[in-house]
Amino acid sequence: MLIRRHGDIRSSEITPADVYAQRRAFLKAAAAAGVGAALSGPAAALVAPAGQRDAIAGVVETPHGRGLELTDYEFVTQYNNFYEFGTDKADPAENAHTLRTRPWNVVVDGECEAPGEIGIEDILTGFTQEERIYRLRCVEAWAMVVPWIGFPLGDLLRRFKPTSRANYVRFETLLDPEQMPGQRRAILDWPYREGLRMDEAMHPLTILATGLYGEVLPNQNGAPLRLVVPWKYGFKSIKSIVRISFVHGVPETTWWRMAPDEYGFYANVNPSVDHPRWSQARHRVLGEGLFSRKHETPMFNGYADQVAHLYKDMDLRKFY
Ligand code: MTE
Repeated sequence: MLIRRHGDIRSSEITPADVYAQRRAFLKAAAAAGVGAALSGPAAALVAPAGQRDAIAGVVETPHGRGLELTDYEFVTQYNNFYEFGTDKADPAENAHTLRTRPWNVVVDGECEAPGEIGIEDILTGFTQEERIYRLRCVEAWAMVVPWIGFPLGDLLRRFKPTSRANYVRFETLLDPEQMPGQRRAILDWPYREGLRMDEAMHPLTILATGLYGEVLPNQNGAPLRLVVPWKYGFKSIKSIVRISFVHGVPETTWWRMAPDEYGFYANVNPSVDHPRWSQARHRVLGEGLFSRKHETPMFNGYADQVAHLYKDMDLRKFY
């Protein structure tokens, strides 16, 4: 994400310096992936390589995304957006170790018959953990393919018995400036908030992720629980969720509220609706290099067969 305004932000965080920051993170990540120099700098010490984190047992493999070429683990875990830990893509991997992911509870409330709270251990053992390979694509036109572990969000939501008034779902990240130092500055209106329409939330492609690459989520990827909505831009995939609320009417969400002309509520990947400051028609694949060939972006990020019907009577230029 790029930010256009805000008084207290360092000039180095604003375009075009942001381009420089992305480049720095890219070079760091490239080094981590063994392209050129050896891994160096603070990220090296703080990111456990694949195979050294806790494995998630009993994961069911699904056919979702089989055949897609995976993005290297180092890129997935060292080139991140998680403003609670800094605005540079390399910041979350360096800083997110201050997040404590146990104990962790998620409150589910609002328009439902059985509001309550559920602990992360019950989430990990109470829902069948599936591996699904999904693309995630960010608005700045880069994409990655990740073997996520998680379960359909709808499986959790149904347990709390939403009422007929519930037509949207609202999500909230932890608010704790002590653990999340980025929240000490008013870069965003904390806590980070996102939302989905009820049918989007209940769609079987929408998952709550608990891990990636066979292991529990690294903090910088949104541990212990984050959303993945593969046909939408990455900012919808809210991290480190502590509250899920059934609501009546469209909930206010962080980026939509912050810059409504740039980030819509729906945020469906759509090559024919450009961001006001750049084209969304083509993208680079993370790991292929800064100057690599661009790829055509498919409608709904390639998931049109499964989700286009959700929007059949809508003007997607208006509801972007
Ligand atoms: N969730 C929170 N709480 N804070 C954030 O800054 N960034 C979003 C999303 N979820 C963000 C967040 C954006 S802009 C993107 S592109 C994805 O997380 C990035 O996920 P990744 O770092 O696992 O690739």
